[in-house]
Amino acid sequence: MSAEKPVENGDLAAAGPFSQDEREAVYRAIYSRRDVRNEFLGDEVPREVLMRILDAAHHAPSVGFMQPWNFIIIKDRAVRQRVSEAFSRSVKEEEEAAIEPARRGLYRNLKLEGILKSPLNICVTCDRARMGRTGLGRSQQPETDLLSTACAVQNLWLAARVEGVGVGWVSILKPDELRSILGVPEHIAIVAYLCVGYVDRAYVRPELEVRNWARRLPLDELVFDDRWGERAHRGSD
Ligand SMILES: Cc1cc2nc3c(=O)[nH]c(=O)nc-3n(C[C@H](O)[C@H](O)[C@H](O)COP(=O)(O)O)c2cc1C
Repeated sequence: MSAEKPVENGDLAAAGPFSQDEREAVYRAIYSRRDVRNEFLGDEVPREVLMRILDAAHHAPSVGFMQPWNFIIIKDRAVRQRVSEAFSRSVKEEEEAAIEPARRGLYRNLKLEGILKSPLNICVTCDRARMGRTGLGRSQQPETDLLSTACAVQNLWLAARVEGVGVGWVSILKPDELRSILGVPEHIAIVAYLCVGYVDRAYVRPELEVRNWARRLPLDELVFDDRWGERAHRGSD
């Protein structure tokens, strides 16, 4: 894919706003997507549903159209058992100690994974050399391959939501332990470990907010105008 080719008429199509109903459906998916840990029903997700979700992930943007991702679908309970044990070790040996003492009680009551409760897990990886060491767009920001893979995870998460499939991201896992359990080669980065399965109920707000761990920050405080820290005159004051 290197010979230059002119853009033809059919290469562009209309890209105006969606209809009101379509917009509402997309925003509903965004606002009602949750990180799921405990609400998995356990029914199997049919292959064709799973492939629709992964195809949505595969249509994420990626730097230089690098598509650096792979998806390891993990159903084997023995494999998930090993990942679950690795999670428990990470919590006990490191994560808990890193939490400020006053919050440790609250932390211990949080459920932070659904590795065995969900019927399948997906490990999303990033091949950092898929299109050469730097490739288009990565000479100044080499980490954009990892960011691209995170975009794929978000697409996956939203597509799963519209299929009634919940997703929970587990990051309290040492990448090297995952690498050894899943046989991931050294040159492949592990980006996400996801618990996946049907749900029929989900929190309306982030569970960490419901349980008083954190709250959603006001958007207005996070938006600047033109320069860091600057806010143009807003509202009626
Ligand atoms: C990169 C990343 C890592 C995360 N790791 C964990 C995790 O290890 N355990 C967990 O319970 N939730 C994890 N989460 C989920 C967040 O806690 C959750 O997204 C956040 O609380 C907001 O809730 P919501 O996703 O339901 O809106 C992770 C989310 C992201 C994006």
